[in-house]
Amino acid sequence: MSTSPAAPPTILVLGATGLMGREVVRALRARGVQPRVLVRDPSRLASSDGLDVRVGDLRDRASLVAAVAGVDVVFHVSPHEADEVELTRTVIDVCEEEGARLVFSGIHVFGRTALASWAMRLGYGLLLPRYRGKIVIGRMVERSATDAVILTPSNFMQNDEVLLDVIRGGEFVHPAHPKGLNRVDLLDVGEAAARVLLDPSFPAGSYSLVGPRSLTGPECARVWAEALGRPVRYRGDDDAAIEAALSRHLTGYRRDDWISSFKKLRGFAVTASARELAETRRLLGRPPTDFVDFVARVVAEHGVQAGAQDGAPAGAEPGRQA
Ligand SMILES: NC(=O)c1ccc[n+]([C@@H]2O[C@H](COP(=O)([O-])OP(=O)(O)OC[C@H]3O[C@@H](n4cnc5c(N)ncnc54)[C@H](OP(=O)(O)O)[C@@H]3O)[C@@H](O)[C@H]2O)c1
Repeated sequence: MSTSPAAPPTILVLGATGLMGREVVRALRARGVQPRVLVRDPSRLASSDGLDVRVGDLRDRASLVAAVAGVDVVFHVSPHEADEVELTRTVIDVCEEEGARLVFSGIHVFGRTALASWAMRLGYGLLLPRYRGKIVIGRMVERSATDAVILTPSNFMQNDEVLLDVIRGGEFVHPAHPKGLNRVDLLDVGEAAARVLLDPSFPAGSYSLVGPRSLTGPECARVWAEALGRPVRYRGDDDAAIEAALSRHLTGYRRDDWISSFKKLRGFAVTASARELAETRRLLGRPPTDFVDFVARVVAEHGVQAGAQDGAPAGAEPGRQA
């Protein structure tokens, strides 16, 4: 690790072709920093200009070791994979061996005391059996010797971007509890992550990243309808509509994870506390993006307002290009 006081840390972004990782790369580039990325398929990067692209796989330990060598800090988001626990275990091991800091994003369940944390993990594990692995991962990172910073985002606004053609077709299938679902813009998560990655003195610990408000499903549908200038009906209470929409855009374990969490989101109010919102503002140095502004940005980027040429072909995953 050859960082002089003036030089920015050398950074490796894992998952750079995914929804979150692409925003981390974008935010770093906006700050004039070109990170190293480890990708399975470089063609999934929208632009590799200036990036230090390494082709590899988290299942190929040697490729990960080579990518982490000489790096000060690694960004890792736990992917939707059946062996996600083993994948993150490998990332932790390699970071520890190479002396790299780990900035991790995923699910981290913790309370005010060790006992409260244990009880909460147990409760979440019982309520969300499919998320047990993700809860284990958060705990592993917390206990690792990687000086870890854990960023815990709420529900991604960008889930809607993946389902843009379904929304454009008049259906909003993303469920939300009547008391609300807090939604965060991954652009904000990318910016917060970039600030943390670029600051070696950023204190280790766990930080929440939330949006400014929690919305119901019909509220989300209304925001989309107003932005698109066409009716959008809330269908988040219809399992068949959810499964059909997700199956058009996602495959394998990722699809199954999404279907499982979509169905669970109907039964849980996922709101943000004043403390979490204040923490997000501190991390960003500004208020987080409102859902209305996110939707307006997506509509402008994809050219999907009423009467415009459709910019996102059915079957595409707009959110999957970095
Ligand atoms: N969606 C939400 O609302 C939400 C909310 C809170 C937390 N989360 C958590 O966020 C995480 C998902 O983040 P995301 O949406 O950014 O994921 P994503 O879009 O599915 O991206 C996953 C990334 O990991 C890469 N990857 C997967 N397996 C790999 C392997 N074996 N080797 C190397 N790279 C690999 C993928 O590369 P390829 O391009 O090659 O596939 C992709 O770049 C999950 O842990 C989820 O629980 C999601």
